[in-house]
Amino acid sequence: MRYTAQTQRVKLDGTTPDAALIAQAAQVIRRGGLVAFPTETVYGLGANALDAAAVERIFSAKNRPASDPVIVHIHELGQLAEITVAVPPAVQTLAAAFWPGPLTLVLQRHASIPANVAAGGATVAVRMPQHPVALALLKAAQVPIAAPSANLFSRPSATSAQHVLDDLDGHVDLILDAGPTRIGVESTVLDLTSAVPQVLRPGGVALEDLRNHLPNIEVQARYLTLNDTAGTSPGMLIKHYSPRAQVIVLSGSKDAMVQEIHARTMAHIAQNEKVGIMLPAELYTRCADLPAERINLGDSADEISHNLFQRMRELDALGVDVILTSAPEQHGLGTAIWDRLLRAAEGHIVYLDDTDMKHKG
Ligand code: TXA
Ligand code: MG
Repeated sequence: MRYTAQTQRVKLDGTTPDAALIAQAAQVIRRGGLVAFPTETVYGLGANALDAAAVERIFSAKNRPASDPVIVHIHELGQLAEITVAVPPAVQTLAAAFWPGPLTLVLQRHASIPANVAAGGATVAVRMPQHPVALALLKAAQVPIAAPSANLFSRPSATSAQHVLDDLDGHVDLILDAGPTRIGVESTVLDLTSAVPQVLRPGGVALEDLRNHLPNIEVQARYLTLNDTAGTSPGMLIKHYSPRAQVIVLSGSKDAMVQEIHARTMAHIAQNEKVGIMLPAELYTRCADLPAERINLGDSADEISHNLFQRMRELDALGVDVILTSAPEQHGLGTAIWDRLLRAAEGHIVYLDDTDMKHKG
């Protein structure tokens, strides 16, 4: 049975959150309920990480398979001792550089963390989020909070309280609404339990910045290897972050993409399909003449990541059958954007003239 609750949504200031509202939310957590809260990446669906029954409610509310482990959130480093064992020295370095912030570390799980947090595994993913509301809630709750993104399983992550309501109304007790999240894509997940540190999911912390502190990290290229869905991070399943429409990612020079978008739009329309095109500002402008629902993703990688999931949901609401979009350059936040687009497209990428854009994985 799906977890049900009378959902209450409260607005609060994102920089200096109201103490009474935070106390109310902390009570919900301590009683075993679910609280959706903003982080700097996306909204999380939180429960007391030390309470297996509360954690079970997260899975049931989201329709999330039990095989997909969730991240435990903390507000101070001292909490690591109650969540993990055998903390490697790299954690100090990485925490000093990136916490609070969009970096999740996979470590050895402490016995106090219930097995369902970790999908039965020996590890646990931990992160200290960088959002005053999240930090205030964690402090007031006095327990670590397990929280996946606050969306229905396989839907785009929630980057606003409205997205949480759209997916989880009646299945979460309280939504702390502090407006849209800043980064818009999830944290980078780094596994420190293997001999060589492995990036399991690119995200808010760029791989280049991680390498400045830990030069030997490897990236599990599985998320770019279209036919292989096996692996250590079950969230890496290809079918993920999906709007209802078929997403097609085009990769190539700008001229080639503009030409291909025109040709494909007309071909879909000829088949009575409603087309959405979702593009960075320049390409968006160059496709102004097309009879499609057009969505501007913005200019910089920061803007595009901030807008991405919101725009996917907008196109879904418009009822398009197909979404044409362009591959970003794979550096900085672009790598995370590329990963999310690829998963939304379920691997459907079309390479055009420019071989430089091809991923050599
Ligand atoms: O930014 C974020 O990370 C957001 C906010 C709310 O913190 N959370 C988030 O959680 O995106 P979720 O559950 O949607 O994604 C967590 C990812 C999944 O890919 C999951 O498989 C992986 O982290 N993960 C969690 N625990 C793990 C573990 N013990 N070992 C390997 N991967 C793990
Ligand atoms: Mg998620």
